[in-house]
Formats: sequence, structure tokens, C-alpha cells
Amino acid sequence: MPWGIRLRGDPEVKGLELISRPGIATERCESRLVKRLRSAPSGHVSSTGFTPPRSVLYWLLSLYALVGLMVAVGGITRLTGSGLSMVEWQPLIGAIPPLNAESWQRVFDLYRESPQYQQVNHWMGLEDFKRIFLWEYLHRLLGRSIGLVCFVPWVYFLARGQLRGRWAWTTFGAFVLGGMQGVMGWLMVKSGLVDVPAVSHLRLAAHLSLAFLVGMWLLWIALDLTRPEFIGAARNERSRAAWALLFLLSIQVVYGAFMAGTRAGYMYSTFPTMHGAWVAPGWLELSPAWLNLFENPAAIHMIHRHFAWVVVLAVGAFVAWALPRSSTLEVRRLLWLLLSLVIAQLGLGALTVMSGVQIGIAVSHQVLAYFLVSLLLVLAHRARDPRSTLSVPHGSARSPP
Ligand code: HEM
Repeated sequence: MPWGIRLRGDPEVKGLELISRPGIATERCESRLVKRLRSAPSGHVSSTGFTPPRSVLYWLLSLYALVGLMVAVGGITRLTGSGLSMVEWQPLIGAIPPLNAESWQRVFDLYRESPQYQQVNHWMGLEDFKRIFLWEYLHRLLGRSIGLVCFVPWVYFLARGQLRGRWAWTTFGAFVLGGMQGVMGWLMVKSGLVDVPAVSHLRLAAHLSLAFLVGMWLLWIALDLTRPEFIGAARNERSRAAWALLFLLSIQVVYGAFMAGTRAGYMYSTFPTMHGAWVAPGWLELSPAWLNLFENPAAIHMIHRHFAWVVVLAVGAFVAWALPRSSTLEVRRLLWLLLSLVIAQLGLGALTVMSGVQIGIAVSHQVLAYFLVSLLLVLAHRARDPRSTLSVPHGSARSPP
């Protein structure tokens, strides 16, 4: 009997039945079927329920990449000291940059009233101002473009019935998170427009974390779309371990943002010790003691650089444990890539401090963190594939990749 599908009563979700050809494993039939149906132009109902078409996958991946680009541009904006150059928040008309001498003078005059200009950049003329304005403008323009690239295709896909049910809601969730990110960005800038001309490092951490969350949300939906058969699959010990690692990595990312927001990266330019010391002088000087965890740059610097070793060791242990338990080539490759990237990230962190936070290195460090979290998320997703897990230890037969 050829493998294929047969229509049953309810065409929505349970309307298709998979027929296996004798001698071919059902999973193989299913994966061929899923592949074939997935390439259909306007979504399909498969044995795993409705799945949107490929165009939705490309849309999600483009959005994920754009959020990564936004993380990089955001890093450059901060590192060039441009983040407080636009003192107005006009979500719609703010997309139009100053186009003549008069409007340039107007935005410059507004900036001259800000604490950053008065306390730090009072030497700046209009030409210097234009340089810092450019990055902040690009950062906000990219934010608006992401909003559009998110919303317009979403409405289109929805209208054509290519997004429905859980896919419509989860993609709408990305839109809501993105909107929250815009508001968070403005709250962050606002915190630097009063009295002290510096952005609150707590708000910066919230802004960066939300950016990572939006990117990971999009990536997760895209991953679900590539393997809809995993949706609702039970977690196993490997996926739980990957989530535990993601938690550790998130702490490190948040401390990275604290490091950036308090400018603690400039404090010690040696590695692995801090000018010969393993414990940063003054790391406990605030009272109560817990305040040092969040407000003391010396403690923040020390935690971020030492916790990196914990992350690297944990990833190393995870990879050593998961490799013999992984039967697919895809997962084994991802595990090796994860180990290489986390070591590279440690190296980039070291270079960041040793270079005195040179912009190119610091931005690469930030972007690599985005990829590292993404990679771990892919592993957490793929770990739920029952076919990629060997229940027997290393040395036993493996199924073909
Ligand atoms: C697994 C290891 C690591 C991860 C995942 C990680 C991640 C991050 C992240 C996400 C940021 C925030 C970037 C930003 O907002 O600009 C950051 C900043 C920073 N990290 Fe790391 N980091 C790691 C290891 C290290 C190490 C070992 C060092 C060396 C001391 C280091 C030094 C720094 C510095 C100096 C900054 C602030 C750079 C700036 O001011 O822009 N990092 N890190």
C-alpha cells in the first residue's frame, strides 16, 4: 500500500490519516509527508494539525534576524554615547529626520537643554551632535521598521487564512512583546534625561532582556513550524538540562547588561585577574550587602567575569553528557557548535576588557550572546525529538542522521 493520507470526518485537525507502506517506518513516512505538505503554498492540515506555509517561516526568521541587528545597533548606539541624543519620543512623525538647517537647530537646541549636554557634552557643536544623533535615529528607525515588518505581513497572513489558531496567537504575542520593548526603550532613555545624564542600568538590562526575549520568541515559533510534530511533545531530561543552562546563561546576559549600564567594563583591563586580584576591591562596600549585587560596579564586574567560567563549565558538562545520548547528526553538530561558541564568548569578553571596551569587540560580544542563547534554544527544542535521544549509553548503535 503506498504511503499517503486519507481524509476523515473532521477536516480541521484530525481529518487526515497516515497510511504507512509496509517496510517503511511510520516516522519516515510521516516526515516525508510533513515535508511535502509543508511546501504547499497556503498552509496545510497534516497529521499534526494546521501548519502555516513556508512564507510564514521566512517571515519569522527575517524578524528574528532583524531583532539581532537591532541588538547590534543598540550596542553601537550606547557605546558611541548616542543613546540620549533624541530627547523627544514621537512614535510616528519621529521617523522623519531633520531635513533642513532649521529643524537640525531645533533638535540640537532641545538636546542642549538635556543634562547630558549640560554636564558632559557641552563642548559639542552641531556637527558633533549630528554624529551621535545618527545612531540613535538608526536605532529607532530600525525599531519602527521591525514593527512594520511584523504587523503588515501578520495582517496579510491572517486575512489569507495562513495564520490561524495557536499560530495567530503566538505571532501576535511577538507583536505585543515588541510594543512593550518600544515603551521600555523610551522609559530607559527618559531615565537619563533627568538630573543624572546616565541611563538606569536596571532599565538597560530590562531593555536588553526584552530584546532577547522577542528574538527567542520568534525563533521558537519558527522552530515549531519546522517541526510541528514536536508541539506538545513531553520534555525529557535533555530538554530540561538545556532549559537549566538557558537559565544560567540568562543570568550572565543580565549581568552583562549591568556591566554595560554601569560602565563597569572599564574598571579592570586585565584577564583573568582584575589587576592581579581575583576578588575586586570594594565589592562589598554598599550596605545592605545584597545591594552590591545590583548597584556596585566592582561586584557586578567581578560576578560577570567569574560567572562566565561557571557557564562555560556547565556547557562543557552538558555537551559531554548529551553527546553520547544524541543520535542525530544535527543535534551532535549543534552541541559541538555550542561548546565552541561559549568558549569564543569567554575569549571575546576577555578581549573586551583588555581593549578598554573597544566598540567593535564589545558589539561582537553582545551579538555572540544573542546567538549563544539562540543556539541553546534550538537545542532545547530539538531535544524533544524522541528520535534524537538514545536511551542507551555511548558506544551503542545509532540511528542514521
Ligand atoms: C558566557 C560568557 C559570557 C556571556 C554570555 C556574556 C554576555 C554579555 C552580554 C549579553 C553583555 C551585554 C552587552 C551590552 O549590553 O552591551 C556583556 C557585556 C560585557 N561583558 Fe560579557 N559575557 C560573557 C563573558 C564575559 C567575560 C569572561 C568577560 C570578561 C571580563 C566579559 C566582559 C564584558 C564586558 C566588559 C561587558 C560590557 C561591555 C560594554 O560596556 O559594552 N564578558 N556580556
